[in-house]
Amino acid sequence: MTGSRDDSSAAVPRAGVIGWPIKHSRSPLIHGHWLRRYGIAGSYEKVAVEPGDLAGFLAGLAAAGWRGCNVTVPHKEQALALADEATDTARAIGAANTLWVERGRLHATNTDAYGFMTHLRTEAPGWQEGGRPALVLGAGGAARAILQGLIEAGVREIRLVNRSRGRAEALVAHFGRAVVVGDWAERDSLIGDCGLLINTTSLGMTGQAPLDISLAAAGDRLTVSDIVYAPLETPLLKAARQKGLVAVDGLGMLLHQAVPGFERWFGIRPEVTRELRALIEADLRD
Ligand code: ATR
Repeated sequence: MTGSRDDSSAAVPRAGVIGWPIKHSRSPLIHGHWLRRYGIAGSYEKVAVEPGDLAGFLAGLAAAGWRGCNVTVPHKEQALALADEATDTARAIGAANTLWVERGRLHATNTDAYGFMTHLRTEAPGWQEGGRPALVLGAGGAARAILQGLIEAGVREIRLVNRSRGRAEALVAHFGRAVVVGDWAERDSLIGDCGLLINTTSLGMTGQAPLDISLAAAGDRLTVSDIVYAPLETPLLKAARQKGLVAVDGLGMLLHQAVPGFERWFGIRPEVTRELRALIEADLRD
């Protein structure tokens, strides 16, 4: 998009999250905690933006005093298309989740890969030992971010299985031959020699169908990660812990992906602390 957008130098910086629907977003809790924690007189709101209104909303962002925003479903792809500038990561993932205005231009990036990898490295420092393959379940938007993170980290073989095989094959075309497609029905046996298993589907989430997978073939050094964070301990993570495997929950990705945006808009790189986690965990329990 071209044209000028005024950088806002308003005394109270604003940011927020936009989506449709937006009611259940936890981002205001996360950013609100940091604003209080660092004593910043700013605001972070959630705004329901209908798909047809996205371009208009973004065009008026700076004039409304917003430094930028998070973007969630269903706007992530269109937000990337509407931005004046985009990072290589956002282009590689094909979607944006973080926008900011700089010198009148709308910039887009995607911090989901960063959020996922930061949490993985924190919770499972040995996840990459042995250079073994990773098995990724699902081929939607979340899978794209995670594939990008794994490829940047140098994982040489990523086995990808998805209910709709064609969607997984499309990701090979996009990400290249480090990604090898298997059948959804093969998911149990493909775990065998893997070092990492990641569920990027919505299966196992409260209100969704369960994820039907067996860890019987898993080696004892498998790290198991689930991007679902409601419930916090999904049946997959519970099964992994019962087997003595390292289990990495989905909440950390949500918390860490928020860090770069906050820093852009409010000028301080915030910390993901136990206090913040406890706040969101309490909200998930409500
Ligand atoms: P997101 O952007 O959150 O990843 P998405 O693009 O809708 O959301 O992707 C959801 C993922 O969950 C997809 O991989 C989807 O599989 P399909 O591509 O076959 O639709 C997967 N998924 C959802 N419900 C599923 C189910 N009942 N069984 C297997 N996979 C399922």
